[in-house]
Order: sequence, then structure tokens, then C-alpha cells
Amino acid sequence: MRSMMTATAVATIVGGTLAGAEAATISISCGAVGLELELCQEGANAWAEASGNQVNVISTPNSATERLALYQQILAAGSADIDVFQIDVIWPGILASHFIDLSEHVDQEQIEQHFPAIVENNTVDDALVAIPWFTDAGILYYRTDLLEKYGKQPPVTWQELAETAKEIQDGERAEGNDKMSGFVFQAKAYEGLTCDALEWIDSFGGGTIVEEDGSITINNDKAIAALDFAATWIGAIAPEGVLNYAEEESRGVFQSGNAVFMRNWPYAWALGNAEDSAINGKIGVSALPKGGEDGKHTGVLGGWQLAVSKYSANAELAADLVKHLTSYEEQKRRAIKGAYNPTIAALYEDEEVLEANPFFGNLYETFTNAVARPSRVTGAKYNQVSSEFYNAAHEVLSGKTDAAASLEALEGRLDRLSRGGRW
Ligand code: GLC
Repeated sequence: MRSMMTATAVATIVGGTLAGAEAATISISCGAVGLELELCQEGANAWAEASGNQVNVISTPNSATERLALYQQILAAGSADIDVFQIDVIWPGILASHFIDLSEHVDQEQIEQHFPAIVENNTVDDALVAIPWFTDAGILYYRTDLLEKYGKQPPVTWQELAETAKEIQDGERAEGNDKMSGFVFQAKAYEGLTCDALEWIDSFGGGTIVEEDGSITINNDKAIAALDFAATWIGAIAPEGVLNYAEEESRGVFQSGNAVFMRNWPYAWALGNAEDSAINGKIGVSALPKGGEDGKHTGVLGGWQLAVSKYSANAELAADLVKHLTSYEEQKRRAIKGAYNPTIAALYEDEEVLEANPFFGNLYETFTNAVARPSRVTGAKYNQVSSEFYNAAHEVLSGKTDAAASLEALEGRLDRLSRGGRW
């Protein structure tokens, strides 16, 4: 009798759980862009060890568009297979009904550490459906060695970028590197193109497709000029293949030394400066160029949050994992190792974070003033709005039509989608 009791007690301690509770396995879906999967696994393992539970990390497609489709299938089926979902900053309005209210599980004090705008973004009908994990903004990467060699400054306008890109590309090709491109970015027909094209358009003063007041503004002269200008890059300073590039394809070209400029998210910094990178130590970062002298520097707001499924059999534990992964220490580790931008403002003053990512300091404004896609205002229909938009932009970039025709047709489709011409 005595030894049996001891055995039970030992089992409970080894499990490390509260008396009576059983150790559980929590499944979390993580992205796999750059170092994401590795960092997610490490963070989740640390929680599992400390809590006496187990984690199952599930890798998801790199494309946000494909990932959303997968999540919608899983969630629509009410499946309990995934407890914690890594969700995009544009999805709370689309997926909210499938998640628990995390304000009931996470201390107010911990929630208040995060940028208020993101917490607000993640709040739908008074429920906090996800905790911010990392934030993103589109930025410009350039080759410091090449700019120096050709006596150039980082470009202030897109027009300047196109000129510098062409000159260096031609110069390098003449010297024997026929693989050199001037500029790589994301122009495949998916969510990433919505980000890139919105950056061009807003930087020209052409608005954000649907404005915060619900008006559909995409069919305007500045938006048309921005898209027509971007179309001139294809095959001239950007390889034709860019029409099929997402983030990782662009990074692959830039990191192997074959592009002067790249538009990407901050994560590309850590990998570009890794020991095995061909351009380690030769990378500069700035805000994206303005659309002309009277334009502005626009970086689109991206970023990812962690949400707990309503269908989870272990919602309490899943929320505890989310608390750990979104914590100050964990965001700090991810920032230093992978250049994932914290959503906790205080970390932008942390010396180790700034040492690993000096541009977190220089470009603080870019990160905190990034321009949102119209996901709040279009709510559950955002994904349809975005897919209409990136398809319209892709047609212009691939030369099937010009921006005037494409944006006029897009306006008509958005009018119909909004059922009345505004949201
Ligand atoms: C990044 C951003 C995300 C965006 C995606 C588009 O992952 O963080 O917000 O939707 O890129 O490709």
C-alpha cells in the first residue's frame, strides 16, 4: 500500500501537472518561413518541459493565402486537431468565431505590454481572439557593397530605385554576373502581392483600396500611375520570374548575391547575415521608397498572432502555451535569433535586441506607423477583397492589361462585393 502511494505521487510529480490533472499534448500550427518553424519548436518545447506537457508542432504552408484556406477547412469542421493557431494580422475578422476570448486567460498586465493598435486589431466584438506574437512591416533591403561600388545612395523614391537598380544590374552583368537583377519582390498572385502593390499605391498617395470610412477608392489616378510604373520593372530590373515569387523566392535570389534591392519583411535580415549567406555583412535596410517627391514612405503592416481554438479539448493549457510564446523573454529570444519584430514596445529599447537588429531602432517609425490593409473595415470579406486586388495587380504586372482598365474593373467587383459601393 505504501509503495503504491509513493509510485502514484512520483507519477504526479514527473507529470508536473496539478494534482488530478493529466499531462496533455497541445498541437500548435506554426509558419515555416525563414527560421519560424525552428523557433516555434524551441519555444514550444521549453513550455512543454516546464509544464510537464507535450507539444506537437504542425508546419503550415508558407503562403498566407493557402494557410488561410487550410485553417478554414479545419475550423469549419469543428476539428480539435489543432489547439493553437498562428494567425495573420488580417484574419481576426475572418476567423474570430472559432476562437476563445483570451482576455479571460491572460493577465491584463501582460496584454498591456503589447502595441495597443495590434491588441485592438485582435479584438472582435469585445473578445480578444489572439495575442500578438510578432509584427511585420515591408522594408527595403539593399547591397551596401554594390551601392558603394557605383557611388549610389539608398533610393528615396521608386523612380530613383528603378534607375539605380538598372545601372548596377547592367554594370554587374557587363562584368560577367549575368544572373544579377536590380530588384526582387513578391509578385505572385497571393496575399504577399496585396502587400507589395498596396505599398506602391499608398506611397504614390493612391490610398488603401477601401478606406477606413468604408469608401472604395482603388480606381484613382495615383493608384493607376503606381501600378503602371511597377509593371515597367518586370523583365527590366526584375526577372520575369518575380511574377511567381513569394517571400522565400525573393530572399533566395537576394541572399545568393543576385539582386541589388529586395522588398521583404524583417525576418530576411537574420538569414541574410547568417554565416552561410553569400551577402553576410553587406546588407543595408531602409524604409521603402516614396512614390515621387510628394509621395510617402509606406510599409504595409503584417504580423502574426496566436489564437486558441474553441474546439480545443485543452483550452486552458493551450492558452498557457500562448502566454509563454508571446511573453517578453520569448519575443526577445525570437528577435535576437530570427529578427522577428516584437509586439512588446519595451523590447525596442533592449540593447541585445538592438545590437542584433540595429534597424529596429532606426526604423521604429516604419514599424509603428505601418499602413494596414483594409481588413478591419471589410471584416469577414477581406480575403475576397484581397484576392480581387492581387489578381487585378498581377494582370497589370504580367502585361495582360493596363492599370486603368484593371482598376476600373476591380472597382466594379468591389462595389458588388460590398453590396452597395461602400462598406
Ligand atoms: C508576412 C506578413 C503577413 C502577410 C504575409 C503575406 O507573413 O507578416 O501579415 O499577410 O507576409 O505574404
